[in-house]
Amino acid sequence: MKISILTLFPEMFDIFNHSIIGKAKSNGIVEIEAINIRDFTLNKHKKVDDYPYGGGAGMVMTPQPLVDAIRNTKTNNKGKVIFLGPRGKTFNQKMARELSKEDELVFVCGHYEGIDERVYKHIDMEISLGDFILTGGEMAAIPVIDSILRLKSGVLGKEESYEDESFSEGVLEYPQYTRPEDFEGDKVPEVLLSGHHENIRKWRRAKSLIITKERRKDLYDKLILTKEDKKILEKYK
Ligand SMILES: C[S@@+](CC[C@H](N)C(=O)[O-])C[C@H]1O[C@@H](n2cnc3c(N)ncnc32)[C@H](O)[C@@H]1O
Repeated sequence: MKISILTLFPEMFDIFNHSIIGKAKSNGIVEIEAINIRDFTLNKHKKVDDYPYGGGAGMVMTPQPLVDAIRNTKTNNKGKVIFLGPRGKTFNQKMARELSKEDELVFVCGHYEGIDERVYKHIDMEISLGDFILTGGEMAAIPVIDSILRLKSGVLGKEESYEDESFSEGVLEYPQYTRPEDFEGDKVPEVLLSGHHENIRKWRRAKSLIITKERRKDLYDKLILTKEDKKILEKYK
């Protein structure tokens, strides 16, 4: 998968040189390029922002460098152009899954008070990280890109898996335990030590449902519980 990121701070994306995504980059499974929007400005002082028409605080990113950067990037990346901004659709795992099916994507990061409205004509979709304001689109692009790339085949190793994790089936993940069996008197649930795979599966499912009900009633209310779900909920409540 090829990801192009248009930003005023390309070095912020060095974060993708580490850990799982760093490995996927080295293996050639993903390609990430961070392109400096400033390289496209025609302003002799290399300016990329200006005062807002109508007054008000802060600076707005001017359209010329942004639109030229998008046009130039599109010559070798045919993917959707995604702007990270608070007016967009709030990002979730379903969107990550959809976007992970693409081969190429272009991300555009705003800064200062945002971008000139006329740039939106060159944007295919806007994604928000949530109902809060960040200092720049880079802060949103990083988690969005990370969550998309980890769903790409070959990015996660055998030891890391996205099956069964939170949101994969519309529920939150069940509790996980590792060694030691007894930590300061706090013991690992018996069923996980039993080696009985069917009982472990049922226990995990029940715990997922219980945790989802307690913490994310909005998700729980959308679930259609099977007969088995109702039975195990009764057993493990
Ligand atoms: C300080 S913010 C601008 C906020 C803008 N003045 C507003 O009130 O909507 C600068 C940049 O950060 C990014 N940004 C801020 N909040 C975001 C969010 N919740 N999700 C995604 N990007 C965000 C956008 O790219 C935005 O252009």
